[in-house]
Formats: sequence, C-alpha cells, structure tokens
Amino acid sequence: MRSSPPSRSTSALFVAIVVAGLVACDRAPSAAGLPEWNAADHDRAEEKAREAQGQKVVDPANRPANGARKGDEEARLADLAWNKQCVTCHGELGRGDGPTGPMVQATNLSDPAWQDKIKDEEIVAVLKNGKGKMPKFDLPEKAIAGLVIKIRTLRQK
Ligand code: HEC
Repeated sequence: MRSSPPSRSTSALFVAIVVAGLVACDRAPSAAGLPEWNAADHDRAEEKAREAQGQKVVDPANRPANGARKGDEEARLADLAWNKQCVTCHGELGRGDGPTGPMVQATNLSDPAWQDKIKDEEIVAVLKNGKGKMPKFDLPEKAIAGLVIKIRTLRQK
C-alpha cells in the first residue's frame, strides 16, 4: 500500500495561511521614525561580563545582520555530521566507545595526549582522506571547520 499524499484541502489551507501571513506582514506596524537597532549600538555589557569569565565572545561587528553569530552555521553542521557520522565509532564524547568503536579501534579523541600531538590541519586531512579503518568524508568545508572546533572541545581535563 502506498502512503497517501497530503490532502489537497490541507495544502490549500496551508497556502492560504502563508499568504495571509505575508499580507499581514506587509501591513505590519510601521517602524517609521524609530531608529533601527544595530548590534554595534549597545554597550556590550553582557559580552564584557562573559569575556571577563574567560568565555570567547564574537564581536557584534562580525555578526551577520540577522543576529546569528559567525560560526553558528559551522557549529550546526558539525553537530549534525558528528551525530550522524562519527558517534557510531567515536562515541558521543569522542572516547572511541561508540557501538562500532572497539571493533575498529576508533581513536579516543578526548585523550589529552592525542589532542596535544594532533594539528588542526591533520584532523582536516584525516576527514578528507580517511586513515586506516577511518572512512573519508565528503563534507562541506564549513562542517569540517566546525568539526575541528568540536573535536577540540572533546578534550578531557
Ligand atoms: C567506521 C568507524 C569510524 C567512523 C564512522 C569515524 N571514524 Fe574517525 N577514526 C576511526 C578509526 C578506526 C580511527 C583510527 C585511524 C588510524 O589511526 O588508523 C579514527 C581516527 C580519527 C581521528 C584521528 C586521526 C589521527 O590521525 O589521529 C579523527 C580526528 C577522527 N577519526 C574523526 C572522525 C570524525 C570527525 C568522524 C565523523 C565525521 C569520524 N572520525 C568517523 C573510525 C571511525
């Protein structure tokens, strides 16, 4: 039996809602006269407090207009790739203890000794070319950049 497609009336209703939404947006209360808020305007008190605690903060000037931080996309892609393609061997925390980890002897990426000796470029190379039983991955550059950052966060104290 094949699954039935979404009913015509449901899609029509959906379109109607979307159209209504667009029309409504068109007539949204106008912000005329109000200065547009800009990330660089505020006094950065919150960022300064976080910086003081040693947290890395992205300069608002580097943020795209939609408020997303530079690197958000990399982090999102990296998390996706990590969960879908790496955890089976390396385990959630990178300890080499995923379901297939012991069988292939997946590297414990949280090991400080390993973290100390591996260079970022070497991580990139392994992802692109594979190594031994580690398969190669055809991932977007942003996902690879994000994975390098993510792998660094796996380091155990
Ligand atoms: C099929 C199991 C498997 C999967 C899936 C897998 N790995 Fe691996 N990985 C390995 C094995 C095995 C090694 C050890 C390779 C060697 O040193 O011979 C390894 C090694 C590594 C290393 C260390 C390389 C070095 O030179 O020390 C990194 C970094 C790594 N993997 C990252 C990842 C990332 C990121 C993903 C997901 C995109 C991933 N791995 C997916 C099995 C896997």
